[in-house]
Amino acid sequence: MDMRRRSFLAAGAAGAAGAAGAAALLGEAGTAEAATQAATEVPARRPAGFLNENVPLRDLAAKIGLRIGSAIIPQDIDTPTWNAIAASQFDVYTPGNEMKWQVVEPEQGVFDWTGADNLVSFADASRALVRGHTLCWHNQLPNWLLANVAAGDYTKTQLLDLLQQHIFTEVGRFRGRIWQWDVCNEFLTDSNPSQVDPSNWWIVNAGPECIPLAFTWAHEADRNALLFYNDYNIGGEDGSNAKHNAAFALVQGLLEDGIPIHGVGNQGHLDTQYGWSPQLLRQDLEHFASLGLKSAITEADVRTFVNNATAQVPTDNLALFAHPFEFSEMLKAVLAVPEAISFTMWGFTDSDSWVPGFFTGEGYATVYDVNQQPKQAYYSLQSELAIAAHGAPHRVKTYTPPITRPIS
Ligand code: XIL
Repeated sequence: MDMRRRSFLAAGAAGAAGAAGAAALLGEAGTAEAATQAATEVPARRPAGFLNENVPLRDLAAKIGLRIGSAIIPQDIDTPTWNAIAASQFDVYTPGNEMKWQVVEPEQGVFDWTGADNLVSFADASRALVRGHTLCWHNQLPNWLLANVAAGDYTKTQLLDLLQQHIFTEVGRFRGRIWQWDVCNEFLTDSNPSQVDPSNWWIVNAGPECIPLAFTWAHEADRNALLFYNDYNIGGEDGSNAKHNAAFALVQGLLEDGIPIHGVGNQGHLDTQYGWSPQLLRQDLEHFASLGLKSAITEADVRTFVNNATAQVPTDNLALFAHPFEFSEMLKAVLAVPEAISFTMWGFTDSDSWVPGFFTGEGYATVYDVNQQPKQAYYSLQSELAIAAHGAPHRVKTYTPPITRPIS
């Protein structure tokens, strides 16, 4: 009996040819029924490309209609090894900075579209889509605009006119070539309860109507672009869900007023030193979906403390596990919600990440290391996507010995 069981397992592992052997073995000593069952249930089906480490993320995600993206900076396009990763792994790109007002209009009336144009051409060449980022944000505004506003040169109406002109110019230039626009970015306070920040530069200088107006103008300039409100900590990061609730109230209000808004972006900047609830993220994405809105993870990264900004080796070994875990769980929340249409990371290699420059002592935030080698987080995303794309392969039915009751 022992012999027989060993040969059954060995035959099963050997695949189709071995399976026939297993059936024959069972046929010898087992019931006819068992033999038929074994013969018809094997071999196991392994979908092509399933958990093959060479399959790009975008190919797996495409099978379920999800787009996988990264922020792209000029260096990503200009450095051949980086370019190869960006072109093969991702099918939606967000310019890291190249569509921000500061970059596209450095002096009033003087435009520089070089970076933005390059990004869009790179996307075309890679058969990728583009997330435009971002039209109305209090950061990275041109110095001329900040200086003129500080000097009291504009009335609110004049500032709104400038915003309208900016949106018409930029959205109009790329009309038909942008999938999603982050129209308004980071308008909410981090407090509990949270609200539209009364001290936000735009709210102070142009008034809260800048938000609905920005969406309305973006829609006029490109009827086909999906228009997003984008913010951080609106997907389970703050524990209380206070900022999520404020984002929900904001977009619900816009919808009630008939403002063209189609989605909400949760940036997804996580840090292993803080708590975060994957369940809450999924519920929050469902919550936005209940309004008929799409959603996206727009800037995912997971930072942690590192030895230095060059090597970016985590100082706490557990971070090696927290990092892929948080990436995986963010993706799984997206996978569970069909209205969540893209999962974008804020840079793909630790060499192009904004984290070391912005968070003292932190790094290791992306899925490729500083030598552009995939980290565990990359493989975790890949295996989540493989299972999502193909379904887990079904088990082979095996012979179950009769259960004998323990003698007490
Ligand atoms: C960051 C860029 O990555 C940096 O290069 C830049 O100096 C500052 O902005 N939220 C956003 C992004 O919406 O635009 C920010 O990008 C990161 C935080």
